[in-house]
Amino acid sequence: MKTSSLIARTILDSRGHWTVEAALTLRNGIRVTASVPQGKSTGASEAHALPAARAVRNINKIIAPWLVRADFNDQDALDAFLVRLDGTTSKSKLGANAILATSIAFARASAAAKKVPLWRHLRTIAKLPARKSAFAQPRLFINVVNGGLHAGNNLAFQEYLIIPKCRTIAESVDVGTAVYHELGNALVAAKGKTAANLGDEGGYAPDFKDNLEPFAMLQHAAKKLKLDKKVDFGMDAAATDIKDPALGRPGALMKAYAAIIKKYGPIYLEDPFDENDFEGFAGLNAEFNGEGGGTIWIAGDDLTTTNVRLMERAHAAKSVNAIIIKPNQIGSVSEALAAVRLAREYGWAVVASHRSGETNDDFIADFAYGVQADGLKLGAPARGERVAKYNRLLEIEEEGKKGGR
Ligand code: PGA
Ligand code: ZN
Repeated sequence: MKTSSLIARTILDSRGHWTVEAALTLRNGIRVTASVPQGKSTGASEAHALPAARAVRNINKIIAPWLVRADFNDQDALDAFLVRLDGTTSKSKLGANAILATSIAFARASAAAKKVPLWRHLRTIAKLPARKSAFAQPRLFINVVNGGLHAGNNLAFQEYLIIPKCRTIAESVDVGTAVYHELGNALVAAKGKTAANLGDEGGYAPDFKDNLEPFAMLQHAAKKLKLDKKVDFGMDAAATDIKDPALGRPGALMKAYAAIIKKYGPIYLEDPFDENDFEGFAGLNAEFNGEGGGTIWIAGDDLTTTNVRLMERAHAAKSVNAIIIKPNQIGSVSEALAAVRLAREYGWAVVASHRSGETNDDFIADFAYGVQADGLKLGAPARGERVAKYNRLLEIEEEGKKGGR
């Protein structure tokens, strides 16, 4: 793979903040682009993104000349080189955004050079043991009600998720959009037309009576459509960013989760406690999953930040049985794949995820499918930057059928 040029520029993300796009051209004429998302409820241990203009300068002035001069045979070699060139543990010199944009562009160019879909290329380089389960594709984690830092409403918890239980992505999208639309109608009927306004990830974002009401309305919407057997519920509390003083009291969060679990039986709970509270997570995990592993996925996001060192700590403390994987939390494709490998070794469920500030880049869809993730968290099926991922997943499903999985 010989690179003839790597040229970065600043582009806007879905909140109107600058982010990085890199265009990589191979000497055989193949040209690909890659851009990187940005979070808002970020974990303190995430790799460090630089202001977009600085990251762009670092790509154009430092990374690009190396890439054109040296031939990197594979993703691991490129990413290891970039990590060394940066020289910091947080990627703060070149910027995690500069490194990841380059890394994703390289993966995309490698797939194009091999003439295979990106997910298939990622599946080859991921070096994961084959999965024998009935699993065929990631389940969709659809964020239909936004709260916390992602909305201007009174919800303490950040994301209320519906998780279709379907055999195909096409059917999951059908079920997910139906419940999403029905919820919108019900919200407008109950709360007036401003209830149709959307939060950062395209979920509805009105004020609610309390933190449980979104589940009640979701349950009602699913039942009305006779789809209640086809959807599970989940939540990302994003607890580090909870501002409600009532939930700050000792035991208050645990009590709230116990009530939600009892009444609505969610299958998924992400970041239920502060990002440093490995023991708090472990308490909840033990309470609801017991010794033999269990029925509810307790997932680390800000707790683990796609970082194998924090994953080791969470494993030792028995904090979680599931993990969110966000490539931009760690800053390169190879390291995100290493995190997936470790999660599999631990027997954790793997949920790949977009960020709240997104671009139209659909890499995360190929990534999730490529690593055979258990889930993919994508926001609501509305707004172009979210829809881009759903539409890519639908396309991947077709590609998978054609070429065999
Ligand atoms: P973020 O939120 O992208 O703003 O960090 C997503 C999440 O917490 O899962
Ligand atoms: Zn989260």
